[in-house]
Amino acid sequence: MAVSRSVLITGGNRGIGLAVARAMAAAGDRVAITHRSDAPPPGLFGVRCDVTDAGQVDRAFTEVEAEHGPVEVLVANAGIAADRLVAVMSEAEFATVLDTNLTGAFRVARRAVPPMVENRGGRIILVSSVSGMLGATGQANYSASKAGLIGFGRSLARELAPRNITVNVVTPGLIDTDMSAAIPEARRAAMVRAIPLGRTGTVEEVARAVLFVAGPDAGCLTGAVIPIDGGLGMGH
Ligand SMILES: NC(=O)c1ccc[n+]([C@@H]2O[C@H](COP(=O)([O-])OP(=O)(O)OC[C@H]3O[C@@H](n4cnc5c(N)ncnc54)[C@H](OP(=O)(O)O)[C@@H]3O)[C@@H](O)[C@H]2O)c1
Repeated sequence: MAVSRSVLITGGNRGIGLAVARAMAAAGDRVAITHRSDAPPPGLFGVRCDVTDAGQVDRAFTEVEAEHGPVEVLVANAGIAADRLVAVMSEAEFATVLDTNLTGAFRVARRAVPPMVENRGGRIILVSSVSGMLGATGQANYSASKAGLIGFGRSLARELAPRNITVNVVTPGLIDTDMSAAIPEARRAAMVRAIPLGRTGTVEEVARAVLFVAGPDAGCLTGAVIPIDGGLGMGH
């Protein structure tokens, strides 16, 4: 892989994805992000893409390939939550979260793989969650999607290891972003009390872990599930 790599981060217009994009751009990579509604953040090359639409995924990759060359590092970060207790959760609420978080990652990884195989190398990083291992009340859809990413990632890691492509999964705990801001304060305080380090994580801390996994020092790392959770998921 080149020193300055062509990197694509889905959902890179805010939150964890934006922090990863900024960290990788600062490290010298040629960074592209996907965005849906907003304009891309200044200084980053943005492509419009909804990961629930395979046609949009294909067009986004084609645009990135024209601008930066074939994607060498893919960070599948786009995700949503739609929390509700299972007893009152609609099938659409379940399916939409799976379609975005899990099938969305499948769509982008599938599109990324053939050029990586051709280039004899690549890095795929999937953004899962500690909820995929612990489960969470009101998050059966979200937790199922995030647990699914671990099985998907490990299968892909086995498929692609002979091609010098690594696939790893990061599992953030509670990180300060728009997504976690939606958690009611009492529940949030209880969650923080359960974190051994006693605090939430920052988007920059997640970004630094992703940077390591995507970087040259992680050449022997594949199929790993890497927690950035203050110890919340310890032992799982
Ligand atoms: N925050 C946490 O505590 C936490 C913990 C563990 C894991 N995570 C995971 O980390 C990832 C990023 O989360 P975040 O906290 O940064 O959330 P966020 O601030 O809500 O950002 C989510 C990002 O995903 C994008 N996205 C959502 N649905 C999409 C779709 N269908 N197609 C394309 N992009 C889509 C959003 O784009 P728009 O701006 O267009 O909506 C946005 O860029 C998610 O996978 C999340 O599950 C977060």
